[in-house]
Amino acid sequence: MEKVSFTQMKDGTKEEYEFLTAHEIDHTKHTADRLLTALVDLDKSLSGYQITRLGHSVQSATRAWRDGADIDWVVSALLHDIGDIYAPYNHDEYAATILKPFVREQCSWCVQTHGDFQMLYYGHHLDGFDQNKRERHRGHPYFDDCAEFCERWDQASFDPDYDDLPLEFFAPMVREVFARKPYDPKVIRRGERVPLTDAKVAAER
Ligand SMILES: [Fe+2]
Ligand SMILES: [Fe+2]
Repeated sequence: MEKVSFTQMKDGTKEEYEFLTAHEIDHTKHTADRLLTALVDLDKSLSGYQITRLGHSVQSATRAWRDGADIDWVVSALLHDIGDIYAPYNHDEYAATILKPFVREQCSWCVQTHGDFQMLYYGHHLDGFDQNKRERHRGHPYFDDCAEFCERWDQASFDPDYDDLPLEFFAPMVREVFARKPYDPKVIRRGERVPLTDAKVAAER
């Protein structure tokens, strides 16, 4: 079979759905490569900053790496703004949706809410923005983690003179994360908090 014959889903046969499922499984194996391509496309988004969105993404990931952060943090830092292309009004939720099945809950929560936390750095300069929007999350177990994520990696990563590692450096980490079993409790580690920094690991990098 090269293609199914149905034109309405309700007419599909068991064989056809088994055939499509095999295709879908194969498709999921290439998610990491599609994301890496999408990151390159980020280079075209949002002008006006001193660095592109790809540059910002790579710089965030580089800072995470140099802080001794684990792979979940580094990949989350790399992908945290990937929603900028298609979801400018909820780019944080868009990125978190991509990451959620494959990284620790702590990391996907921080990506999902980072937009609210980032307003701390610019909300007071603009009408209609709430600088303290992050306060709606106060008391959440990951509140401090997201505050640190934004302070150390996100708001700090707009420097054209910073010595970024190349995107290719992070590609194997993206592949490793997206090859995980989706929603595996051993990956999601609900409620577990892993520090963003590890001085011992950082010293070795
Ligand atoms: Fe963002
Ligand atoms: Fe960002």
